[in-house]
Amino acid sequence: MKISNKAWVLVSRPKDYFENENVRMMELKVPELAIGEFLVKNIWLSFDPTQLNWMKRDTYVDKIEIGEVVRSFSVGQIVESKNNQFKVGEFVSGLFGWQEYAISNGSFVNRINPIEFVNPPWYSLSLFGITGMSAYFGVKDIGKVKKGDTFLVSSAAGSVGSIAGQIAKIIGAKVIGIAGGEKKCKWVVEEAGFDYCIDYQKVNISEKLSELSPEGIDVYFDNVGGELLDIALSKIKRNGKIVLCGAISVYGTTNFYPLRNYANLISRRARMEGFIVSDFITRFAEAHKELYIWLKEKRLKQREEITFGLENAPEVFKKLFTGANFGKQILKIADI
Ligand SMILES: NC(=O)c1ccc[n+]([C@@H]2O[C@H](COP(=O)([O-])OP(=O)(O)OC[C@H]3O[C@@H](n4cnc5c(N)ncnc54)[C@H](OP(=O)(O)O)[C@@H]3O)[C@@H](O)[C@H]2O)c1
Repeated sequence: MKISNKAWVLVSRPKDYFENENVRMMELKVPELAIGEFLVKNIWLSFDPTQLNWMKRDTYVDKIEIGEVVRSFSVGQIVESKNNQFKVGEFVSGLFGWQEYAISNGSFVNRINPIEFVNPPWYSLSLFGITGMSAYFGVKDIGKVKKGDTFLVSSAAGSVGSIAGQIAKIIGAKVIGIAGGEKKCKWVVEEAGFDYCIDYQKVNISEKLSELSPEGIDVYFDNVGGELLDIALSKIKRNGKIVLCGAISVYGTTNFYPLRNYANLISRRARMEGFIVSDFITRFAEAHKELYIWLKEKRLKQREEITFGLENAPEVFKKLFTGANFGKQILKIADI
């Protein structure tokens, strides 16, 4: 099958934050499939802050090389196959990138399972994918949240943060979110059901936290790092836990905020622990089951914004770092 493939290729590394000039749209040829390979037509692209790290440097995965298609999670449909395990017509998710078509040999590819298919297939990029899995295992396994805990989460209207807070609420914690702006905070409380949301653009976070939870915080789920992490360290209770999920405030800078309150971890016998969602890959099915039940019972709200057209990938990606996004960002680039 002869197909031409529009793709966004990395042409320079972002110095701080991502700029449009770091990528270029190119028309690439799709080579003939080798035995064991299949061709995926990309339909929904996922946007995740960690892609900025992948563009900049080696992290927990190798960086994207200059000249390579920008790596991202996506869901697509198999349109040609020389692999017995993957049939034409099947929907799959994987690291297929900012392009119309991707060739895969099946490694790190998941079939969209029937549970997910009763929901929109892009849920396997959000609630049943990287963001939902991060929230689930961050709250349950790293934070070990219990009934009666006071749970604080930053980027509370975001893709991971909103699910993390709702899971903590289901467990029975008192849940406080931190988010940027009135609109986001209103949604966090009225739709996602958090007990409180602190609009950091308007109020002093530290003072507000002392008012909302004078006894301190049992678990802080950190998506942001920097100053917010330092404030949480100042409020952490004895034996408290800080879940290091993300540090978006530092992805675009080398001018790191100094953590003045870290010694509280010692005096308060508290613990701070990072994780990468793929650490839990063998247990994703367990999380899918529980999240699906909560979703069916309408105890979980998943918010997304869908934009159309591959040409818009850079603009959608930039929204993650300005707060212009509200919920999971999905780009639909083709019809089924
Ligand atoms: N450990 C893992 O395996 C794993 C997996 C997935 C995601 N993550 C991490 O989880 C975090 C959330 O990811 P997401 O996909 O759910 O994104 P998101 O929260 O939906 O979107 C990013 C949000 O971060 C906030 N933000 C952006 N720049 C900021 C800055 N300089 N300072 C403070 N806040 C800033 C904005 O919210 P406001 O408007 O409210 O400020 C923005 O809407 C990220 O740090 C990501 O890297 C980790």
